[in-house]
Amino acid sequence: MKTQVVIIGGGPSGLLLSQLLHVRGIDSVVLERKTKGYVLSRIRAGVLERGLLGLMREAGVAGRMEREGFAHDGTLISYGDEMFRIDFQEHTGESVMVYGQTEVTRDLYEARETANGKIVFEVDAVTIHYAKTDTPYVTYTAGGEDHRIDCDFIAGCDGFHGVSRQTIPVDQRREYEKVYPFGWLGILSETPPVNHELIYANSPRGFALCSMRNENLSRYYIQCSLSDKPEDWSDAAFWQELKRRIPADQADRLVTGPSIEKSIAPLRSFVTEPMQWGRLFLCGDAAHIVPPTGAKGLNTAASDVHYLYNGLRQYYETGDPAGIDSYSQKALARVWKAERFSWWFSSLMHRYPDQSEFDLKMQVAELEFLRSNEAAQKAMAENYVGLPY
Ligand code: APR
Ligand code: PHB
Repeated sequence: MKTQVVIIGGGPSGLLLSQLLHVRGIDSVVLERKTKGYVLSRIRAGVLERGLLGLMREAGVAGRMEREGFAHDGTLISYGDEMFRIDFQEHTGESVMVYGQTEVTRDLYEARETANGKIVFEVDAVTIHYAKTDTPYVTYTAGGEDHRIDCDFIAGCDGFHGVSRQTIPVDQRREYEKVYPFGWLGILSETPPVNHELIYANSPRGFALCSMRNENLSRYYIQCSLSDKPEDWSDAAFWQELKRRIPADQADRLVTGPSIEKSIAPLRSFVTEPMQWGRLFLCGDAAHIVPPTGAKGLNTAASDVHYLYNGLRQYYETGDPAGIDSYSQKALARVWKAERFSWWFSSLMHRYPDQSEFDLKMQVAELEFLRSNEAAQKAMAENYVGLPY
């Protein structure tokens, strides 16, 4: 088989890239290790930046999001019983869209299937060959048979545990990592959200987040120990702890109910450089990871896709390789800004085991400054709605 672009990974990065390329008449094949059902079973954040909204509209997959998504003009930040709002509209004129990542992925799958896009599920032994030449190819097994796809370019959209990053020789990459000393215990419940906007809560007992998927599906998180397991937490214990971490007036109005999903995610900041090696380009979690505090995971994957899609489009439409040659440099410039914001917001809102009394005073001082200073609020709003591509 031959195609123009082989895309390894059928998550949001790979699917968005494949659909955008399709719209421009550029052929791709997506290779996905799991089944479609497995990919769609993953529960992930659901706050979309303006840049991702634009890409979804350009890809022709924004219809359901615009019908069912919720535009949020601000977010709430609490510490103890204090709470204040960051007004995105006031500071940036922009909003964010609350729409589950699972729904984004579902919409992308539907669009690829409608266009008869080539997606191979349950592949194994994916191997990248000759990425440093102009005749790369990918081999894999599926259905017990060996396959080869010759291509012009390879997009490694295969997430943190994928094969693409590992294809770059270890002496050719630099990796930067910070592992956080806590996790997030998250639940989904078929209950109305406690507030119509998200609440990011700093409390003496640890961080909490009140989010949502729709008017009767809420998503809540509490900071937990890395040694915790979901089964250690009954629903009652979760609700009791959440109520102790958010302002009393919010706790009083919290509607609790049975969890329909409960999981714990570790937190990590990670970047690999460079994000390309010959004709192999890394996108999304294959190249970087952020703590979910700023909801930057999917949105930073989207900015990678923006740079790669436009570079490939420029190459195929004009023969000019400038866009693909500068992909890593452009993508990383924005990746590091997203890493900074996610690290900063995580440092501001969580309790760390080694924090001194002075450190805690610094957190309160920073929260008070953010609450009272217009420039600080504008900086937060600009990062949250999404820095320009
Ligand atoms: N071969 C084929 N597919 C693979 C391989 C492989 N060797 N390894 C991993 N995959 C698939 C995974 O099964 C997954 O479906 O690649 C896909 C990668 O998807 P994600 O991990 O969702 O990464 P990405 O598409 O970059 O999306 C980033 O998803 O994980 C969240 O928080 C993250 O919001 C961010 C977004
Ligand atoms: C979520 O709704 O799952 C969510 C929202 C915002 C975040 C993280 C997760 O920062």
